[in-house]
Amino acid sequence: MVLNMATIQIRTEIPGPRSRTLMARREVAVPRAPYNTTPVFAERAEGATIEDVDGNRYLDFAGGIGCLNVGHRAPLVMSAIQEQMEKHLHLCFAVTPYESYIAVAEKLNALAPGNFAKKTILLNSGAEAVENAVKIARAYTKRPAIICFEDAFHGRTMMAMSLTSKAHPYKAGFEPFASDVYRIPFAYPYRNELGTTAEAFAHHLENAFKRSVAAESVAAVIAEPVLGEGGFVIPPRDYFKAIHTICRKHGILFIADEVQSGFARTGKWFASEHFGIEPDLITMAKSLGGGMPLSAVTGRAEVMDAPGVGGLGGTYCGHPLSCVAALAAIEAIEKGGLLARSTAIGQHFEDRARKWQKKWPLVGDVRGLGGMCAIELVRNAETREPAEKATKQIAEYCYKHGLITITAGTFNNVMRILVPLVVTDEQLNEGLDVIEAALASVTEQKQPALSHA
Ligand SMILES: Cc1ncc(COP(=O)(O)O)c(C=O)c1O
Repeated sequence: MVLNMATIQIRTEIPGPRSRTLMARREVAVPRAPYNTTPVFAERAEGATIEDVDGNRYLDFAGGIGCLNVGHRAPLVMSAIQEQMEKHLHLCFAVTPYESYIAVAEKLNALAPGNFAKKTILLNSGAEAVENAVKIARAYTKRPAIICFEDAFHGRTMMAMSLTSKAHPYKAGFEPFASDVYRIPFAYPYRNELGTTAEAFAHHLENAFKRSVAAESVAAVIAEPVLGEGGFVIPPRDYFKAIHTICRKHGILFIADEVQSGFARTGKWFASEHFGIEPDLITMAKSLGGGMPLSAVTGRAEVMDAPGVGGLGGTYCGHPLSCVAALAAIEAIEKGGLLARSTAIGQHFEDRARKWQKKWPLVGDVRGLGGMCAIELVRNAETREPAEKATKQIAEYCYKHGLITITAGTFNNVMRILVPLVVTDEQLNEGLDVIEAALASVTEQKQPALSHA
């Protein structure tokens, strides 16, 4: 089948023969736990497109789960890596430091919201950034407890998993979890039970001090400004100000986990900026590295300096290739006007998705902050019963028709958009056309699709 479209080109049945062979090898050699969203194996990628090993071309609306805001193989990133390869690879910042690590720290200190002295430590993954933010908060406050949220995702390492909300597949079977973790409901306006105002939602934090943990035992509250894996949920604009004010009152630090929402995803460097907050600590990863593994914790200098010498770090943290890639990715965001582009993508998505919502009750909610946008699918617009099966069918329809997408949400019923921000208008429309066709297809099949979600 060949689709007559600008970018998407399907040459074989999907998955094609080479992908099927690789999947058979994968099943023998790799455990089942690391899940594959699509059964197609990549050969190469460029901008917002991926070509598989069978020569099929896809549009990429997943961006390696939000890691490619500057696009696959962004030219500035590629040349920075090539140049660095001629100098040195791993040295270990703890043994023989190098300038690019410092330059990334300086850049992040300048970009992060807050007109106060900041410091930055570099790490490898989002989960590692979260682990370190918690260590730093505990070292500074000399308190044990951390408050986190329902529907949160912070990673798969022990503390990050303990802070994560979704039981299956992230937590079940991996107990016991880290201690001194307390969870309160997140401001999820579409699924609220207790009013939709920022104050009503923030009240859960005050409640927790009475019901679960004394305020003076709490080191930090950690929140994603926009829930990532939890379904791209956007709280009311005043919500985090209310949370932060309560934190300050009790000497509690506020950690913004911007691993998914950072680096232009929402039309600003950090989603925190939309909410007018200056977090004490920010965790970042994903698109920071422009396609290379890199994460960071940036925060108030005095807080960051609380752990003693040698208390933080790791062999590979702030790898030289990742550091130069991050500097280039930041430059690509600046030079490519990707903050504004993200806002425009979000607006265009919303315009189209609102039409889908009018046409199909399956589309229960349309939401987004810049290019971090999503639709939440429901079996019934009144009861808002999650349409998990239909969501899975839509994702499958999409990759079979040349569009890589990923789902999200505690109830597995959210289609999220993490398209590289360098996507062209034509490609964006092409991808949205596929989602529209998928919605039409699933709605037409209706009974099998929607009756047993
Ligand atoms: C908000 C958030 N925090 C932390 C993580 C964990 O990042 P990593 O998978 O790099 O460990 C993720 C990953 O999706 C995330 O979205």
